[in-house]
Amino acid sequence: MSRAIYPGSFDPVTFGHLDIIKRSSAMFDEVVVGVLNNNAKNPLFSTKERKEMLEESVKEFGNVEVISFDGLLIDFMKQNDISVIVRGLRAITDFDYELQIAQSNRKVSKETIDTVFLTTSIDYAYLSSSIVREYASYGTDVSDFVPEFVVKRLENRFQQ
Ligand code: PNS
Repeated sequence: MSRAIYPGSFDPVTFGHLDIIKRSSAMFDEVVVGVLNNNAKNPLFSTKERKEMLEESVKEFGNVEVISFDGLLIDFMKQNDISVIVRGLRAITDFDYELQIAQSNRKVSKETIDTVFLTTSIDYAYLSSSIVREYASYGTDVSDFVPEFVVKRLENRFQQ
């Protein structure tokens, strides 16, 4: 059985992430969406909130599970018998960083894991969670970027 992990901060999940999840769910038997539990990044949404929004977003896919993880991604993968990482590439600006992480993960895992890159759909090439947070913080409508229940959570967060 092929199992892959799509790791990220997902602060919050966007239509760009959901496009990658949908496409990877068609490529692998099981996809784990791994939400990084990382307080150092000072996220807008807690890990629990980010996980809830992802769970709501992926419920139409029978083979996608959302799990939060701490520590090194490759350790989590070993513990859960996963050998493939999926990442989205939006533009050349993503490439340097992604290549470095993919190569170091491969080296440190003693070449037991691989990273598969999916090119982001043109519709979402410009999209990132940080852009969504920035617009939402000024009260701009972000419903083109994220599902409606995420829009509501952003509105609530920035009203507080
Ligand atoms: O959505 P992001 O913030 O670009 O995702 C980055 C992520 C979560 C994939 C990366 O930071 C990660 O794997 N962190 C876990 C810690 C780890 O394994 N570090 C070694 C590679 S940087």
